[in-house]
Amino acid sequence: MSVNFVTHVTGARPNFPKAGPVIRALSALGIQQRLIHTGQHYDDKMSEIFFRELELPMPDQNLGVGSGKHGEQTARAMILLEEEFLANPPSLVIVYGDINSTVAASLVAAKLQIPVAHVEAGLRSFDRAMPEEVNRLVTDQLSDLLFATSPDAIAHLANEGVDADKIHFVGNPMIDTLLANLDKATLDLRSFDFAVPEKFAIVTLHRPSNVDDESLSREIVDALNEIAELIPLVVPLHPRGRAQLEALGFGKSENVHLVDPLGYLDFVTLMRNATAVITDSGGVQEETTILNVPCLTLRKNTERPITISHGTNRLVEPSDLVAEVNKVLFGKASDPIYPPLWDGHAGHRIAKVIAEFLPSLIED
Ligand code: UD1
Ligand code: UDP
Repeated sequence: MSVNFVTHVTGARPNFPKAGPVIRALSALGIQQRLIHTGQHYDDKMSEIFFRELELPMPDQNLGVGSGKHGEQTARAMILLEEEFLANPPSLVIVYGDINSTVAASLVAAKLQIPVAHVEAGLRSFDRAMPEEVNRLVTDQLSDLLFATSPDAIAHLANEGVDADKIHFVGNPMIDTLLANLDKATLDLRSFDFAVPEKFAIVTLHRPSNVDDESLSREIVDALNEIAELIPLVVPLHPRGRAQLEALGFGKSENVHLVDPLGYLDFVTLMRNATAVITDSGGVQEETTILNVPCLTLRKNTERPITISHGTNRLVEPSDLVAEVNKVLFGKASDPIYPPLWDGHAGHRIAKVIAEFLPSLIED
């Protein structure tokens, strides 16, 4: 391999739809790439299915980092990423989002004096109890190229003293993937291996703030069980919260269809057909904005306020959830205003900036 290549580091489910468009656009410019999967997520439905469905290249290495406490998981990723970057020194490391693998790769690359590009820079919930917020702050401070998905992100980075020359407003590669796959996500609802009700709402939950705390989980489960009497719920449940939510009686009602995590195409098919989505996912807030499906986010804050100002998203307390679902069921939908540059071309914009930053990548 030539000495001039970039290395992508991915680790968990939301990374894959963000990385795909960047990998493809860099390939189109003839830039050589390595793809490292830390293995933070490892179940087929949390990881490999995305490579198949999104036609991503298989990783050059899977580091098999797996699950663990924050320090443990991040440290394991750092040790193995350091070996990888020393054995195969890239000209640039590209990291995605806000997971532990993202901050691990940024720390290791920065110490080895390898430039870092952060895709989805500058998002802030201003809530440091959220592990992702810590990852975002550190990653952005260490990055040399900061790719912002929304104007508020640029303002946050400026406030934190990041040099304006490093910040690039490029749009949202996760939306590139959504738009590119809409044709494939028209699967017949009857083809699912569970009975999808004719009218339904989707629920996804995995934030520690919702699924680790028993009393809050109980409040959420009670509200969802009440909502299931109004509209059936389809719940592809992340492994993190599953045991706790089931122990609290979630999934017992015949109106609650609790299933394993779904592959991307099945999940997008369901979102497109859903009357509403109840979630604490970051990516789902963005995708529902573009699909124009009402999104009720079970969180006190969001690092993606553009999905509220320009989308279908609303922040909801568990105590207000039933009333908010009723508003969706009986209210009037408003016309969508889409966030700027969420147009399917973010990957190309990112690749262009990278090629300008490191012209030697394409001169060889
Ligand atoms: C991680 C990210 C979060 C992101 C989410 C996407 C961090 C700090 N958090 O949270 O930002 O929104 O991924 O889904 O990086 N597990 C499995 N199989 C898997 C993966 C995980 O069973 O393939 C279970 C394990 O019990 C594990 C738990 O899920 O302990 C949590 O996994 P982890 O990657 O640590 O955090 P997530 O909650 O998935
Ligand atoms: N997703 C999926 N199957 C599911 C749930 C989510 O394919 O059962 C997709 C979703 O469309 C989005 C991404 O996973 O592209 C979001 O990941 P997640 O909610 O795990 O993480 P977050 O975005 O909150 O970091």
